[in-house]
Amino acid sequence: MPDKWVYVTRRIPKPGLTKLSELFNIDSYESDEAIPHDVLVNSMKEKRYDALLCMLTDKIDKEVLDAAGPQLKIVATMSVGYEHIDLQECAKRNILVANTPGVSTDSVAELTVSLLLMTARRVPEGVNAVKKGEWGQWKPMWLCGTELTGKVLGIYGLGRIGFNVGRRLKPFGFSKIYYTDVQEVSYAKDIDAEFINFEGLIQKCDFICVCCNLTPQTRHMFNTDVFKKMKRNAILINTGRGGVIDHEALTEALKNGDITAAGLDVTEPEPLPKTHPLVSLPNCVILPHMGSNTWDSRNAMAEIAARNCVAAITNVTPEGIVSV
Ligand code: DGY
Repeated sequence: MPDKWVYVTRRIPKPGLTKLSELFNIDSYESDEAIPHDVLVNSMKEKRYDALLCMLTDKIDKEVLDAAGPQLKIVATMSVGYEHIDLQECAKRNILVANTPGVSTDSVAELTVSLLLMTARRVPEGVNAVKKGEWGQWKPMWLCGTELTGKVLGIYGLGRIGFNVGRRLKPFGFSKIYYTDVQEVSYAKDIDAEFINFEGLIQKCDFICVCCNLTPQTRHMFNTDVFKKMKRNAILINTGRGGVIDHEALTEALKNGDITAAGLDVTEPEPLPKTHPLVSLPNCVILPHMGSNTWDSRNAMAEIAARNCVAAITNVTPEGIVSV
């Protein structure tokens, strides 16, 4: 279909582009950095694109959709998250929205486990101490962290990623695994996880992994009130979305000792400026949103996003449809 056009908002791994360029014409924003919003709007006006392949950094709002015009069939995001896309505006225009679920589950779950272990055992502090020449004689109480064995694990959001985090963490010997979600799920029994309400989760757990989407319901779920109710030895890990945690409240909680430590792969905002108070706290481990940074995941994500564009243009149902 040489008359069909796809706009790609970034340089993406080859498996995605090869597929698309065999079938359609492609314009893309040739950079590893995010496309500025005004550039995206103007680019949408330049041609009548049939598909828009975007990233989680691109705000796909009314302005972009108006600029794109009525022939646009799909917004295919190369991400699991889709909070950057105005679903209502897409629905009004009959534009499909598709994401890339499933293919980054293992990479994000692996990183969640790494971050939990790094935070619990104070690994970044140890690495820094060596680099800074602070490694002196062995000391009985230096850089002591927390073991996982015998502790209570909580998972907030037992979707694909949450479940796979639980599956990987279970062999560490937690005494109990709880999960909170909008409803009980049958597969929770495969990791012996028990459903509990949010109040129960925050009061009983020594480790809490946030693995949920950002929605109006989950926004700032972890706030000052919640931190006051959590165990003082609790460690909070977030690989879902930064907005689930109120970062000002988290800063205070970590400073006051309301909770022991936090490990964040996602923050609000992103990137988190290096002057943000959380960055200098020794009990906060922050990674630059790198949960799905493996070639395995990124190649697969690019390929699926491309396949979703092909499907929509050729009137086939895309595999990762997101509904309003
Ligand atoms: C996603 O796919 O939404 C992830 O957050 C990207 O790493």
